[in-house]
Amino acid sequence: MARFADPQRLRRLIEGLDRFTATPGRGTTRLTYSAQFRQAADFLRAEMEAAGLGVREDEIGNVIGRLDGANPERAAVMVGSHFDSVPNGGRFDGPAGVVAGLEVAFLLRQHGLLPERPVEVIAMIEEEGTRFGGGLAASRILTGALDTARLGALPDDDGVTMAEAMTAYGLDPALAHRAVLEPGSLHAFLELHIEQGPVLEARGEDVGIVERIVGMAQVKATVRGQAGHAGTTPMNARRDALVGAVGALARLPDLARETGPDAVLTVGKLEVRPGGANVIPDLVTFTVDIRAPQEEAVRALVERTRSAIEAAGGNGLTVEIEEQLFVPPVPLSADLHATLSRHAAALGLKSRSMVSGAGHDAMIMAGFAPTGLVFVPSRGGISHAPEEWTDYEQLARGVDVLFAAVCELTLPPGLRP
Ligand code: GLV
Ligand code: MN
Ligand code: MN
Repeated sequence: MARFADPQRLRRLIEGLDRFTATPGRGTTRLTYSAQFRQAADFLRAEMEAAGLGVREDEIGNVIGRLDGANPERAAVMVGSHFDSVPNGGRFDGPAGVVAGLEVAFLLRQHGLLPERPVEVIAMIEEEGTRFGGGLAASRILTGALDTARLGALPDDDGVTMAEAMTAYGLDPALAHRAVLEPGSLHAFLELHIEQGPVLEARGEDVGIVERIVGMAQVKATVRGQAGHAGTTPMNARRDALVGAVGALARLPDLARETGPDAVLTVGKLEVRPGGANVIPDLVTFTVDIRAPQEEAVRALVERTRSAIEAAGGNGLTVEIEEQLFVPPVPLSADLHATLSRHAAALGLKSRSMVSGAGHDAMIMAGFAPTGLVFVPSRGGISHAPEEWTDYEQLARGVDVLFAAVCELTLPPGLRP
């Protein structure tokens, strides 16, 4: 049994949020600034208000609930995660950490605790990069790593830029720079996330305390040729963009294997235009997601990927490669790792130290403030799929660890529950 957090409250919030999907019955699809995203943001606002938080939507659409505490001028402890999703994803990836933050705020109030510094619960936009590419957009903007002047140059698949989508959502992109956090304004950032892998479940462990997050890069490639008639254009007179792209794509998995045992590479998005069965394709775009625990391996695999794609050029085809994201491997705060591990043990939970193969906003926030990340088990290790599942009791145990850590960071020893 969880000691503090209430599994039923967590369940109500997760299920409440999961109503806002563009693909009911086929998983969670909640793209940043979509209609479902607005509904989810409004739901979160109402829940944060009900938990006694002062709520604001910042200039890029993050929903932030704040408990001022006894000293509102002091640096805040921020707790949260993201509320956008991948296409046809699960209900826990992101929301688990958002509702964990809400539950921490609720528990502070339930126990009559007045923190000595502010506690902020944040629900972040566009972590997955599903809509505008790259990902980790909220944390990169909050920490100044993504220049808000570039928002007009980040298009979605329909050519709508992030700035245009913000305007349609009711935000003013010209004010986006105001979302950037003041240096020193955060005392700590804490995130809870589902593991998205099989380790905790297989070993019967309750929580993972993350010590490091792997490095990651994302590349978008465009191959251009000449459209033509499928019946009348001889094979040796074609400039078929797909034939060029496929030559490169077929080589990529081997490049990852040659880079090292822990390097992984995924082509998750491929578009062929104009998309007629009897038309020679003139435009192919695809993404390449690259990850490895060592920075040199990420860089080496990015370079090999570039070379393989560039080799598709020539013979009437042109190739463009755009690096959408590069984040080196990040160590998280050793102090917070120790704090979280100690509280897990004190709560009687089985924990293990982990390296995260998934990217998280925590990896960006770690460059701005001491950052800690807690994992809870994922059933079957499945994530980024509708089958994604974490038992609410397990989620509650992870929230207990987070709550204990927030208490330690915000309350004098005698007042901690
Ligand atoms: C987020 O889920 C990522 O690891 O890409
Ligand atoms: Mn994800
Ligand atoms: Mn996530």
